[in-house]
Amino acid sequence: MPTGTVVDRGLEGVVVGSTVLSNVEGQIGRLTYRGYDIDDLAPSASFEEVAHLLLYGHLPTIAELDAFKRELASRRSLPEPLVAAMQNVPKTAWPMDVLRTIVSGLALFVPVNTHGEHVSDVHSAIELIAKLATILAAWDRIRRGLEPIEPRADLSHAANFLYMRTGKVPSEIEEDAIDTYFVLLADHSYNASTFSARVTASTRADIYASVTAAIATLTGDLHGGAANSSYTNMVAIGSPEKAEKFVRDELLQGRRIMGMGHREYRVRDPRAKHLEAIAKKLSGHRGDSKWYAIARELETQSQRILAEEKPDRQIYANVDFYTAPVLADLAIPGDEFTCLFACGRVAGWSAHVLEQLADNRLIRPQATYSGPPPGPFVPIEQRR
Ligand code: COA
Repeated sequence: MPTGTVVDRGLEGVVVGSTVLSNVEGQIGRLTYRGYDIDDLAPSASFEEVAHLLLYGHLPTIAELDAFKRELASRRSLPEPLVAAMQNVPKTAWPMDVLRTIVSGLALFVPVNTHGEHVSDVHSAIELIAKLATILAAWDRIRRGLEPIEPRADLSHAANFLYMRTGKVPSEIEEDAIDTYFVLLADHSYNASTFSARVTASTRADIYASVTAAIATLTGDLHGGAANSSYTNMVAIGSPEKAEKFVRDELLQGRRIMGMGHREYRVRDPRAKHLEAIAKKLSGHRGDSKWYAIARELETQSQRILAEEKPDRQIYANVDFYTAPVLADLAIPGDEFTCLFACGRVAGWSAHVLEQLADNRLIRPQATYSGPPPGPFVPIEQRR
C-alpha cells in the first residue's frame, strides 16, 4: 500500500459505491426512496407499495399492486421441514439466531444449477420478503409452545404478521403501526447490513446467502440490536421521572444511550418523528401510556445531557429509539425487535443485491499492514 494512505476506521465519510434505491441526507435529516420522501410515503403508501417501488423502480398501479400482493401471498408459507426444524430448536434460542438460520435454510428448498447457484431475481426477492415475517411469527409461537398459524391470502403483509402471531386479525391501528414501521425501515442506503449484503453478492454468491449475511450484520447493538437495548433501558427506568438519573449513570459508567446518535444524521433521524407519532397513538389506543411517556422523557433528558457532555457531536434520537415503545405497545417481546427490523429491511437488502448483481464488481478493499516486519521461519523444535 502506498505511504501516506489514509485509513478511515469505520469507513466514515468514505464513498464505496452508488445506488438509485435510497438517499440519506444526514445534515438536513431527509430520507428518500427512489426520490420519494419517507415523509410522504409513511402516511400514504403501504409496505407492499414501497417494496414494489424498491424492486421494480416505480410505485405500482392498482393492477400491479394486486399482482404483487398475490405473489407475496403465494410465497408466504414455509417449507414444512423448516417448521419442523424450528420445533426442534431449544425454546431459549435467540430469535435473531433462529431467523438467520432458517433464512439460510430457505436456500435448501430452492433449485440450484450445476454450479450450485440459486437464481437471484425479483421473484426470489419477493420470496424472501414474504417469508421473513412468517418465520418470525412461527418462531414466536413455537417458543411459546403453540402451533404456527398459516398466513391468510386476504390480509396485508403487516396484518398477516400480527395475525400469524396471535390468530386474531389486528385492529386497523395495529396493522397501520406495523405497516408504517416496515415502510420506514425498508431501506437506508449503504448501512452496515446492506453493505454486507452487497459485499456477499459481489462475490456472485446468491440472494439467499447475501440476505443471510445481512441478517448476521444487523444483529449487533450498534446497528439493529439497538432497539432491544433501548427497550431494556426503558424497562430499567420504569417511570419517566427516573430518566434523568438513568442517563447520567449510564454516561458515568462509560456506556452509550442506546437509540441515540447516528453515523449519518446530525439532526433527529427523520424516521423518529413518524415512530414517535405511532407510539403516541398506540399508547392512547391500548390505555397504557407508560412506554411512550418514558420514551419522551428519556429522549428529552438524553438529548439535553449529551449536548452538555458531547458538545462537538450532535446526538439525537435514531430510528431504534421510538421503535421500542411502538413494538412494546404491540406486545412484541424485546428480543424480537431486531427480527422485525429485518422483516422491513429485507425489501432494501434484496433490492440492493439485485442492483449489485446488475452491474457487479467484486468489493475488495485494502488494509494497511501493522504487524511485524518479514523475518525468518523458525522450525518447531527451535521455538521458545
Ligand atoms: N450515547 C453516548 N455517547 C454517544 C452516543 C450515544 N448514543 N453516540 C455517540 N456518542 C459519542 C461517542 O461516545 C463519541 O464520543 P467521544 O468522541 O467522546 O469518544 C462520539 O459521540 C462519537 O461517537 P462515534 O462512535 O465515533 O460515532 P459513530 O458515528 O460511530 O456513532 C453510533 C454512531 C450509532 C454507533 C453511535 O451513535 C451509537 O453507538 N449509538 C448507540 C447505538 C444505537 O442507537 N445504534 C443504532 C443506530 S441506528
